[in-house]
Amino acid sequence: MQDTTIPHLRKQGNALQLIVDGKPFLILGGELHNSSASSMAYMAPIWERMLALNINTVLAPISWELLEPEEGMFDFTLVDALIQDARTHNLRLILLWFGSWKNGTSSYVPGWVKQDYHRFPRIPIRDGRSAEVLSTLAEANWQADAAAFAALMQHIRTVDNTHHTVIMIQVENEVGIQSDSRDRTPAANDAFAGQVPQELMEQLKEHQNELAPEVLQSWMAHGLKASGTWEETFGSGPDTDEFFMAWTYARYIDAVTLAGKNQYALPMFVNTWLRHPTNKMGDWLHGSSLPYVFDIWLAGAPHIDFLTPDIYVPNFSEWCERYTRRGNPLFIPEMFPDVSGARNIFYAIGQHNAIGTSPFAVDGIEQPETAPLSQTYASLKQLTPLILEHQGRNVTIGVLLDKNHSGFTWRTEQFELNITLDSTWRTTAENGYGLIIALSPDTFIGVGSGFGISFKPITPGPALAGLRSVDEGTYDAGKWLPGRRLNGDETDQGHKWRFSPLGISIQRCTVYRYE
Ligand code: DGJ
Repeated sequence: MQDTTIPHLRKQGNALQLIVDGKPFLILGGELHNSSASSMAYMAPIWERMLALNINTVLAPISWELLEPEEGMFDFTLVDALIQDARTHNLRLILLWFGSWKNGTSSYVPGWVKQDYHRFPRIPIRDGRSAEVLSTLAEANWQADAAAFAALMQHIRTVDNTHHTVIMIQVENEVGIQSDSRDRTPAANDAFAGQVPQELMEQLKEHQNELAPEVLQSWMAHGLKASGTWEETFGSGPDTDEFFMAWTYARYIDAVTLAGKNQYALPMFVNTWLRHPTNKMGDWLHGSSLPYVFDIWLAGAPHIDFLTPDIYVPNFSEWCERYTRRGNPLFIPEMFPDVSGARNIFYAIGQHNAIGTSPFAVDGIEQPETAPLSQTYASLKQLTPLILEHQGRNVTIGVLLDKNHSGFTWRTEQFELNITLDSTWRTTAENGYGLIIALSPDTFIGVGSGFGISFKPITPGPALAGLRSVDEGTYDAGKWLPGRRLNGDETDQGHKWRFSPLGISIQRCTVYRYE
């Protein structure tokens, strides 16, 4: 049974929302550089910078090596200080468990694990060298990780189960094998030569109509077998190696996650290093929760609440789409912290009901008060109650336009909106970004920059649509405070609801029909 007094996930329409203190919460987050949270003195000036960025949630690592410097001896000093300092600054935390793997390697495991490589086996890769990567197939590895993670979650429950400063947990960081397609320890070779576990086969069968094409095609090409070895079922080659690795990572991480959830069941997720379009075999992390092995991860890690992408690659919108299959909610734990990230955030939230976003390395942003991220979050902070109220109800869209994708249409109850890059007789914007919410059939609220909207009726009645009123303004604690009435050049003489490229504005627009 889910404990609904602590942060948890809840459905609203077709969205999954994060509930904190009984209310939906939108994460306007930021992840710290990897080592920042290992020293509270180093962190001291950073907290104010987070506030200047209008961040409400800091994603901060907790490393196994510092938590359990000696086997069974836990040191919670850093965890306690982090939670305390976050509370002082009225910030929430997502804790990132740097356990067995970080970017595929095991650099954050304690020294006593690193040194005892007989007890805690690593993987040998193709050239025979041993890599500093713990094997997923060794029971001692996951048991040691799970014991430490359970101790962490037990401690968080003790110090935080009434405050809820910690709202979610990321389990491990960008797992997978680089430089080889699979683990080649004796235990891994045995498992690979054995049968595909029945739990996986049953899940694949149950979801056959919604599987990612890569798994489905390999399975179909080998006769859609109900059982068999990995190679009998999917063929031999790097794809099958990757399916196998995905399963073993998912099972390992699920065991760690369950041990933690048994102590304190916060929402937990894994993140993914995305495969760049130019990557060749061995360049990416084989077995990580990439879209084409999504279904294997969902089958293998039922205690993980959702899978997430770290988006540093082109085609932002496509990746968002690929991570919202099979009811997976979108949360982006890492993305660029610069102007491109600041634009993309609107799209993730507007188009995909994202639980939130968390650009990486936000403590390194210079001049946080004026940074693009600060401006994005300042506007989204104002709109948060409206965004959350309308999530999952199909009345919100995200806008992300550039010269290769300069427009699209959106049909609401009564109108078709034609949304294009803002253009005047003098210039056309290079980027358009924002989000729009249809508050009622004829009233819209929008935020963003560099795009314009014209309306066309799509239901019986007067055939033309006009702008009745357009106001820019702000929201203060959910209350609309109108500023300028926009007309004339600002609305292209009544033809377009425009968001000037000169900054981010929040505007409210009402539409009427005539003939
Ligand atoms: C992705 C990782 O998840 C982060 O921890 C960090 O290493 C960045 N890449 C690179 O800066």
